[in-house]
Amino acid sequence: MNTDEDGAEETHAGKSPQRGFFLKVWGCQMNEAEAERIGAQLRSLGWRPVADAADADLIFLHTCCVRERPERKVYGFLDSLRALKDEKPRTIIAVGGCMAQKEGARIFQRAPNVSIVVGPRRLGRLPELVGAVEQTGARQIDVALEDAQAALPEAPPTLTAFVPIIEGCTNYCAYCIVPHVRGPERSRPSREIRVEMEHLAARGCREVTLLGQNVLAYGAERRGERDFSSLLEFVHDVAGIERIRFTTSHPRDAGERFFHTVASLPKVCESLHLPLQAGHDALLAAMNRGYTVADYLRKVELAREIIPGLALSTDLIVGFPGETEEQFRASLEVYRGIRFDQAFMFAYSPRAGTAAAEMADSVAAEVKQRRLMELIEMQNAVSTEINAAAVGRVFEVLVEGPSARNPDRLSGRTRQNKLMVFDGAADLVERSVAVRATAGHVWGMEGRLAG
Ligand code: SAH
Ligand code: SF4
Ligand code: F3S
Repeated sequence: MNTDEDGAEETHAGKSPQRGFFLKVWGCQMNEAEAERIGAQLRSLGWRPVADAADADLIFLHTCCVRERPERKVYGFLDSLRALKDEKPRTIIAVGGCMAQKEGARIFQRAPNVSIVVGPRRLGRLPELVGAVEQTGARQIDVALEDAQAALPEAPPTLTAFVPIIEGCTNYCAYCIVPHVRGPERSRPSREIRVEMEHLAARGCREVTLLGQNVLAYGAERRGERDFSSLLEFVHDVAGIERIRFTTSHPRDAGERFFHTVASLPKVCESLHLPLQAGHDALLAAMNRGYTVADYLRKVELAREIIPGLALSTDLIVGFPGETEEQFRASLEVYRGIRFDQAFMFAYSPRAGTAAAEMADSVAAEVKQRRLMELIEMQNAVSTEINAAAVGRVFEVLVEGPSARNPDRLSGRTRQNKLMVFDGAADLVERSVAVRATAGHVWGMEGRLAG
């Protein structure tokens, strides 16, 4: 990489020889986790992060294609970089992640200012691809679905950190592009996960979120490996880590033993993200989800019985192909009955290559929008009610920093993964404090320091 640095010095005469990178990320926590690691890798190779794309030698976009909207945003952002690339032709624009995998070389056609396209399983090769562009000027693409030899480094230490434990997905839910762009499930060795957590803890991390498209599939494809419940037990005693979270759990794979494990391990937080997607059996079957409404309700009842104080969140889709008004109404009643603490709600968006894309996208856009609005309104009322009912109760809050809404106040999360905003001195940041809830909102709670 030394020769590359010389090259950079030449092109930007008078500027620091240390090259700058600008990183922008769309999509889920997996993408956020990877973006942090890409940043760490570039820093370790002598690059420095810059806040403005105009100052960068490398612009890296870590993308998502789960719905049409994030994809449109990426192309919009690439358009906005045109003038910059005209002015500074040596700037390298790289597109990585799920949309890079899905679109492949089409990205070069639609956005000719892009020099690198790199899929989610090949991210470790980014420095090599950048070097190749610098040396040859030729575009580089790597969208193989096998894991690259060069793995991304561990997460940089922060108070709360994401730790990927299983990559890819083999569920093939009918609507979902993720298995097509992330490839089959592959679990990291449990020892490696534990060592990463030890390193994080040694450098100040207190809360870890274990990540996977379905964490409950952990270990299944790796011979002799622990399953997810055993993994939780295995990493539980890492000194310094006070809270362990995980996401996402597929309802089909959530069982009694798993609930008991969560309940019995004190560091494992009592919050569960259990995506239901639809509240009608015909829709669930067409989605290939592998459970019925009754199965889901039984599991929720069991989870709430076994894990005291459990907060339940979910993902819901409206307007899946064939969804009738009656099915939508029935779903709404199911959701209302469950009383989710929080829900991420989406209008169905056809993704080329998925099974559902072969079905007629039968629900008109305005109908999807109207159903989505109605669902959001109902769920917002429920979330607010649940949070308001917590007023007077005391919560353990890990203080993350000043509140985004009001920098004079502090904010952090409860074990149930709810945002808590309260007044307190700056030296409480990074500490665990007891906060009594004084008001409930759709986004979380306000409170005051207790005792
Ligand atoms: N692996 C996780 C998350 C997958 S993507 C899981 O299984 O829950 C996050 C959410 O996006 C999904 O849960 C689903 O609700 C939504 N989603 C996925 N594909 C979609 C599509 N084509 N249209 C609308 N929403 C979609
Ligand atoms: Fe997509 Fe289903 Fe896999 Fe989740 S479990 S990533 S929704 S295919
Ligand atoms: Fe998007 Fe890929 Fe995550 S499609 S939701 S960034 S796995």
